[in-house]
Amino acid sequence: MRLLEGFSGTALQLPNRMAMAPMTRGRADDVTGVPHPRTVEYYAQRASAGLIVSEGVWVNRTGKSGPGIPGLATEQQAEAWRAVTAAVHEEGGRIFAQLWHAGRVAHPGVMGRTPVAPSAVRQAGRIFSAAGWTDTVEPRALGENEIGEVVQDFAAAARRAIAAGFDGVELHGANGYLIQEFLARNTNRREDRYGGSVAARLRFPVEVVVAVVRQIGAARVGLRISPGNPENDISEDDWKEVYPRLIAELRRYELAYLHVIDTPDVEVLSHLRPLWPGTLIANLRSEEPTTQDEGESLIESGLADVVAFGRLFIANPDLPARFALRAPLARAHHDVYYGARLDGYTDFPALEADPAKFACSARS
Ligand SMILES: Cc1cc2nc3c(=O)[nH]c(=O)nc-3n(C[C@H](O)[C@H](O)[C@H](O)COP(=O)(O)O)c2cc1C
Repeated sequence: MRLLEGFSGTALQLPNRMAMAPMTRGRADDVTGVPHPRTVEYYAQRASAGLIVSEGVWVNRTGKSGPGIPGLATEQQAEAWRAVTAAVHEEGGRIFAQLWHAGRVAHPGVMGRTPVAPSAVRQAGRIFSAAGWTDTVEPRALGENEIGEVVQDFAAAARRAIAAGFDGVELHGANGYLIQEFLARNTNRREDRYGGSVAARLRFPVEVVVAVVRQIGAARVGLRISPGNPENDISEDDWKEVYPRLIAELRRYELAYLHVIDTPDVEVLSHLRPLWPGTLIANLRSEEPTTQDEGESLIESGLADVVAFGRLFIANPDLPARFALRAPLARAHHDVYYGARLDGYTDFPALEADPAKFACSARS
């Protein structure tokens, strides 16, 4: 069971190789962006993960993607996160904050203004707003000066995260949000120094990394990427050219880790792993939650140092213990994934707490 062995990287020392993947749960106060008081308990319950990566947290209000998503843009928000990090540390855990700007995957009905993006290219499909599923709107292209301000917002949020007790930050460069929108040709049609050639499309993501590294040090910074992933209407047919170049830029900083989302055929990982000498966290994106066996084989094959599990951590707060015992796993219904409701949040029991309850919803 390699997943349950300790991991010692240049920056991360973890008691096991299981990370809790970042997962938006939508329970924060929608007006203030302050995490719900129960969020303290939610993350503390999951502190046996080698590393917790928090739900995506917005760096400025325009970057808020949906209802009930918390921020790290104000002192009030940071204060509430302080209670979360203290509780996780109290339970012996480690937690990074995932810093997020949603770019065009946002809606005026959620954050009160026109979304911003590299270019004014509307996202196909619909988006979840306060009024339910609604049509997306055309974003406004960021001016060159504004791009620098967003970079500074990431740096300021990173500073707040460390002051609030987080062990580090993960920059959300995956799943079609602002950072990936700069990388992808279909969302970045700019003709200035931030668009066009691959080198120009890398500029904003690298500027964010560099600004955050300057602010809190490389050992406390991770980056999440999802090369070629079409989520949120991204088209990256040139990912095999773009991401090796991005990695070449990043290699000079000894980041805490690179977090790569792949599909189960592990094509992205086998391509990028040899290029990244540092710590690599892998996560698989498919219909079904990433399984223990998939995680074991990612470690065994050397494609990953640590594996991030998402949905299984929602319903199994003590997932490492369950993996150790090969115990049955509870499943959460997707109705409870997001939203202000409190059921399906902190009420999934640990194994010994209520075996009868978990057995009802178990699958092997
Ligand atoms: C409810 C939910 C919320 C998510 N929110 C985020 C998020 O805020 N940031 C992010 O990078 N990925 C997010 N993801 C993606 C997960 O981190 C992960 O990539 C995905 O669930 C696949 O892993 P799994 O098979 O172990 O669940 C979310 C997934 C789910 C199910």
